[in-house]
Amino acid sequence: MRISVFRKAHFNAGHRIFNPAWTDEQNFKVFGKCSNPHFHGHNYELIVRVSGEVDPETGFLIDLKHLKAIIEENIIERYDHKNLNAEVPPFDKIPPTSEYICFEIWKILRQILPEKYDLSVRLFESARNFVEYPSLG
Ligand code: NI
Repeated sequence: MRISVFRKAHFNAGHRIFNPAWTDEQNFKVFGKCSNPHFHGHNYELIVRVSGEVDPETGFLIDLKHLKAIIEENIIERYDHKNLNAEVPPFDKIPPTSEYICFEIWKILRQILPEKYDLSVRLFESARNFVEYPSLG
């Protein structure tokens, strides 16, 4: 039986979205408040979805205690209460947009989770704005 399990997690982080080749005015036109030169924070909500076959010996797809620990140790400790641009590579080189943060989180988890699982990551930057990787369409 194929099924998906979900684990929610949370972190707070600061960032600035800007193109360093542009003036502050140009950045504000494109990125709005997220271009604030003095940075600002978001309360990010993360939903990790793991899909695959239930293990008939346990009745579990994946032990949620194990998934929780993986997310805590590899994502939350890395991102929580950090200035993403200054402290969390590769966001010294690419902008810490929700799109790129979501993709980075997926890449980290993908390296850790066994290949038998499918993985997708949904990241909420606010209650109404969120992204998901991989994309279905
Ligand atoms: Ni922002």
